Amino acid sequence: MYPTTVPLRSELKRKPDKSADLNRTSSASGTLTNRERFLNACFCRPVDRPPVWLMRQAGRCLPEYRALREKFSFLEIVQTPELAAEVTLQPIRRFDFDAAILFSDILVVPEALGQGYRFRDGGGIEMEFGLRAQDIDRLETNAIAERLDYVSKALPLIKDALGDRTALLGFAGSPWTLANFMLEGGSAKQHTKAYELFLADRQLFDSLCHKLTEAVTTFLEMQIKAGVDAIQIFDSHGGFAPAKDFDALSGRWITQIIENLRGQVPVIVFSKGANLSWNELIATGADVLGVDWNVRLTDLRKRLPRDIAIQGNLDPSLLTNATPEEIAVATKRLLNEMRGNNGYIFNLGHGVPPTARLDSIESLVATVRNFK
Ligand code: CP3
Repeated sequence: MYPTTVPLRSELKRKPDKSADLNRTSSASGTLTNRERFLNACFCRPVDRPPVWLMRQAGRCLPEYRALREKFSFLEIVQTPELAAEVTLQPIRRFDFDAAILFSDILVVPEALGQGYRFRDGGGIEMEFGLRAQDIDRLETNAIAERLDYVSKALPLIKDALGDRTALLGFAGSPWTLANFMLEGGSAKQHTKAYELFLADRQLFDSLCHKLTEAVTTFLEMQIKAGVDAIQIFDSHGGFAPAKDFDALSGRWITQIIENLRGQVPVIVFSKGANLSWNELIATGADVLGVDWNVRLTDLRKRLPRDIAIQGNLDPSLLTNATPEEIAVATKRLLNEMRGNNGYIFNLGHGVPPTARLDSIESLVATVRNFK
């Protein structure tokens, strides 16, 4: 029976010997729940078909989300457990993804450290102020759990609604990516300030990333306690770190966070654009590596150890620019490339764009679900 292949939380406390699991064969009897399928894929265990979820699956492409945004601001939704739970569940009701992802934002961590943010009218994010060197000492890490308590209230509501059917993902931004937002003062065209600080004052850069590592660890521990099945670390600005310094800028802090979490749940690391840094990404201890659409999955599969799963990597712009039929073809191409690999989670190479066509998302999901 399949369910016995899904690790219990108590088993996960110790990192499982995944190499032994690779030799297990799946029995044809029994049906996997979406949650079991997702967790099996995280551990490179047999599945009936690859699980599927999409980064930014909750949000502006959904009319039901836009309707709620007429009444509430983004931050009101994020900070009100019932609303955050509702928005998390919207894409599950519509598309029955294998995993739900908590509706929140990576910038709630800087906010809880004392640097708030808002949306710019013309798009993008603006932090209340650009973090300066002299502000770093003042960032407060000890109130993280209290200030982000709304997340520990939202997660049990989501879990209750999902039951055992759908996996629940928690997440946080990587220290490097958060440092970029904090030092640039929001979304930016160029990302130079964090690297400049690294070159000019290594000690100060390290002390900022150290604080962020601590804050992110506390935040993720809290999400694990509240019942998430897995977590994703978004290193969305990984590609802005020069490859020669990737480990010092981003990799080592992610490694530290994963070590701090002690294998309680599987960890997905998505380092967008860091496609020259596979060795450093492997060394983080991630169970799954998320990849953008500039990578050929078959090449990457050969490059990674067999017990690291892969997540990705359909070009997200197709959801806006291609027809549902073209989406089905592109989706099948990826599925065929990864045929025979248990450790594969279907996803986009980045988030769902607000302009995504709903019929295209439907076509993507149906293609994965019907894949044999
Ligand atoms: O994936 C999901 O559905 C869960 C929710 C989620 C959001 N943000 C909701 C959101 C997740 C996982 C994130 C992560 C996040 N936030 C990242 C990493 C992922 C990535 O895209 O690289 C980053 C870099 C952020 C920071 C952030 N938040 C930006 C740059 C923006 C966009 C600003 C804009 O106007 O385009 C946001 C806002 C945001 N986060 C929205 C949503 C649904 C849009 C809010 C709205 O306008 O209603």
